[in-house]
Amino acid sequence: MSDFTPSAPPLSRRDFLTTSAKLGVALLAAPYIARAATTGGGSRTLNVALIGCGEQGRVLLNAALKIPDLRFLAVCDIWPYNRTYGERLLKKFGHDAKPFEDYRELLSSVPDLDAVIIATPDFMHAEHTNAALRAGHHVYCEKLMSNTVEGARSMVVTAREMKKLLQVGHQRRSNPRYQHAKNRLLTEAHLLGRINNASGQWNRAVTDDLGFPASHALPEAKLHAFGYANMHEFRNWRWFKRYAGGPISDLGAHQIDVFNWFLGANPSSVIAGGGADYYKTHEWYDNVTAIYEFPTPSGIVRSTYGVLTTTSAGGGYHEYFMGDEGALKMSENPKYTKLYREARAPEWDQWVDKNFVSRPGSGEGAPAPVKPWEKARPKLGGPSKSSVVDVRETAELSAWDIPVTLDKAIHQPHLENFFGAIRDGTPLACPGESAFATAVTVLKVNEAVAAQKMLTFAPADFIA
Ligand SMILES: NC(=O)c1ccc[n+]([C@@H]2O[C@H](COP(=O)([O-])OP(=O)(O)OC[C@H]3O[C@@H](n4cnc5c(N)ncnc54)[C@H](O)[C@@H]3O)[C@@H](O)[C@H]2O)c1
Repeated sequence: MSDFTPSAPPLSRRDFLTTSAKLGVALLAAPYIARAATTGGGSRTLNVALIGCGEQGRVLLNAALKIPDLRFLAVCDIWPYNRTYGERLLKKFGHDAKPFEDYRELLSSVPDLDAVIIATPDFMHAEHTNAALRAGHHVYCEKLMSNTVEGARSMVVTAREMKKLLQVGHQRRSNPRYQHAKNRLLTEAHLLGRINNASGQWNRAVTDDLGFPASHALPEAKLHAFGYANMHEFRNWRWFKRYAGGPISDLGAHQIDVFNWFLGANPSSVIAGGGADYYKTHEWYDNVTAIYEFPTPSGIVRSTYGVLTTTSAGGGYHEYFMGDEGALKMSENPKYTKLYREARAPEWDQWVDKNFVSRPGSGEGAPAPVKPWEKARPKLGGPSKSSVVDVRETAELSAWDIPVTLDKAIHQPHLENFFGAIRDGTPLACPGESAFATAVTVLKVNEAVAAQKMLTFAPADFIA
C-alpha cells in the first residue's frame, strides 16, 4: 500500500525548498506553490507529462487518450524522432504538449502537473521517478521498476517521503480477468485446493536487432551525455547489462510478478541456468530457466519459469497454477486461459450460480467432454487394473470457462487505476512496495545464473 492519502497536506515551503535543492534545478516557485495549494480533489482534469515516447510510451499514450479528463502538458524524449511522434499524436487528439529533450527542464518549467508517466529504459527509471516525485508529482513508471535493487528501493523511499503515489507498470494487476482469478477463484472459492506448483513461460522467436533511420541517428556526443555507448545499444538497450536485466526482467518480470501476487508470498530460494547462447551482439542471457521455492501458509509451492528468445514454439506466454483440486492457466492472451477441475474436487455448482466460473466450454486445448461411462470413481480402494486406470486418466480433468473479459486496451485499466487513485484515493493495483518485491525476485535470477548455485532470500530482502 502506498502512503499517499488524498487528504495529505500540500508540501510546506520548507519541503519545497528541500525538494528544489535536491532536484538540483531552478524550479519555478510561484506556479508550483499555486498548484500545491489547490490540490486535494478540486480539479477533475489531471495534468500529465510523458517521459520516454518509444514503443511502450506510445502504447501508454494511446491507452491514456481513451481515458477522460486527462490533459497532456508535456512530452520528453532525448530522441527527436520519437519526441516528435509523441507531440504530433497528442496534437491530433487536442493536447498541446510541450516537447522537451531533458526531463529536468520539463520538471522545472511545466506548472500544474499532477502526474508523470515514465517509459524510458530501465536504468533511467530511478532517476526519472525520483526527480518527478521530488518535484511533487505522482508517478506511473514502467516495469521492471529498476535494473538494480538499490534503484528500486530508492523509488519506494522517495514516494513515501514525498507522500506521492507510485504505480509500477505490471498491468496484469489491473486486468479484470486476473483480478477475478486472484480474488474470486483462488482467494474466495479456493478452487484449486492446495496449490503445489506454479510454472510460467514466455517464448519468442529469434528477432533482428532494432535499427534506426540513418538520417535520425543521434550524434555520439549526445548519446554519451545521456549514458549510451552508441546507437546500437541505445536502440537495443534491453540486451545490455548497463541498461537493463535482459529477457528475465523484460518478459519474465510480468509473470514472476503474477507468481508473487497469486501465491501471496515471496520466494525463499532460486536456482537458475541460462546463457548468452545465441545472439552474438548481445550481453544478456537469451534463454533462462529458473526454479523458485515459495513458502506459503499451505506449504511449499515449487515454481519453474522459463524465458526463451530463440524459439516461439511451446505455447507462447502464460502462468500456470496447479493444485490438488484444480488448475488455472492465465495469460494476457485470453485464448491461452484455461481452468480445470480435478474429478476429486467438490462440485462447482455454487460457483457457477455466483458467476465465478461457467460450464465447461470447448475452447482450444480443452480435454474432450467426459463420457458418462468414463466418470471417475473418487476412491478405488486398492490397486487398479490397467483398464480402469486408463479410464481414470481420461476423466481426471474437466475444462471450465472464466466469465470475465477485458474489453479495453491491456494497459488502460492500470492507467485508470492510477488516475483513479490520484482523484479518489482508491488503492493502487501495483504500488512501489509490491513492485519492489517483484524486482528483488526477478533480479536474483541473473545472479543465480552467474553464481551457478541456489541463492536464498531473507524475508527482509523484500522490504524497501
Ligand atoms: N508493461 C509492458 O507490457 C511493457 C512493454 C514494453 C516495454 N515496457 C517497458 O517500457 C519501458 C520502455 O520500453 P520501450 O520498449 O518503449 O523502449 P524504447 O527503446 O522503444 O523506448 C524508450 C524511449 O525512451 C527514450 N529515452 C531514453 N533515454 C531517455 C532519457 N534519459 N530521457 C528521456 N527519454 C529517454 C528513447 O529515446 C526512447 O524513445 C521499459 O522500461 C520497458 O521495460 C513495458
